Amino acid sequence: MLIQEHINLKPYNTFGVTAYAKYFVEVTSVEELIEVLGNSNYPELFILGGGSNMLLTKDIDALVIYINLKGISIDFEDNNFVHLKVMAGENWHQLVLYCLENNYGGIENLSLIPGNTGSAPIQNIGAYGVELKDVFISCKAMQIENGEMKTFDLEACKFGYRSSLFKTNEKGNYIISSVTLKLTKKDHKINVDYGAIQEELLKLNVESPTIQDVSKAVIAIRQSKLPDPNELGNSGSFFKNPVIDNPAFEVFISQFPEAPFYKISESEYKIPAGWLIEQAGFKGKRFGDAGVHTKQALVLVNYDNASGADILNLSKKIQQKVKHLFDIALETEVNIV
Ligand code: EPU
Repeated sequence: MLIQEHINLKPYNTFGVTAYAKYFVEVTSVEELIEVLGNSNYPELFILGGGSNMLLTKDIDALVIYINLKGISIDFEDNNFVHLKVMAGENWHQLVLYCLENNYGGIENLSLIPGNTGSAPIQNIGAYGVELKDVFISCKAMQIENGEMKTFDLEACKFGYRSSLFKTNEKGNYIISSVTLKLTKKDHKINVDYGAIQEELLKLNVESPTIQDVSKAVIAIRQSKLPDPNELGNSGSFFKNPVIDNPAFEVFISQFPEAPFYKISESEYKIPAGWLIEQAGFKGKRFGDAGVHTKQALVLVNYDNASGADILNLSKKIQQKVKHLFDIALETEVNIV
């Protein structure tokens, strides 16, 4: 294992911003991970996965450990289900494609989400009516403090909307090394509840969709509004869709009766942040090289040489204006480093 110094993390984050790691090491096995954690020369550590859900606003004065554990294996299989153990460094979308090739159902709605499998549980990735928790069995993670491996089942992970134990109570304490998913081999549950998928399937002239068709539809929708990080730096949705309680919702909807919303419980409503940001006049706006995507206002983009601080400043401007106009606080979905 080679520990390098002063490494530019631009290729390692999908925003494509420059920030330097004081030290940098790539680990490709659990043994290497144990070895590096045991090295007392580097007390400050920073764990890096696919780099698709973070905004680097400063240099990292630590040893950056790039988790590049690879491998997909079958833990259990019968006629109906397969339990797939996927190492943390496997690219998520490549995993989706592998499942489609093998006709394993369950994650087709999560096609084209950037990032690696090891990061998927941290924020309980979700899209088009499906969340990771719907197919999740467990994950293995190493406790940074003592190198101990632990298994976390569905309940232990405390999944919520773009949230988990690893993003809340145990933030920064574990390195996820593998994730095990329960997928169907037949009688797939086709999830087309999300209106846009149905519309897209109609366009594709598909009446009884397969998991492959659902994936095609999701890919078409995503490509029509979400920028490809290889072409335009971004981290997907920058903010979470805010959840407000009944009294706040009554005030909001009487002032903005045309606003879209989803009722998520008897007492709570979710408002699309993209709508709030568009109404606040930011959609498609560009400030230097930091901007708001032209087709989806929830996505902030780096046109080329924006710094993390430029993007963070833009996000603060947006938060202030949305708060001022709608009295709603936008929370970031992306981790600000
Ligand atoms: N909208 C606007 N203007 C915009 C964008 C959205 O008015 O510029 C309104 C529209 O009314 C639209 C509604 O917002 O109907 C919802 O938009 P969309 O279907 O694009 O979904 P979203 O709520 O903006 C969420 C996730 C996405 C996920 C999609 C589809 C969050 C924070 N984001 O976006 O996740 O792909 O639903 O399920 O929950 C991500 O996490 O990185 C991500 C891309």
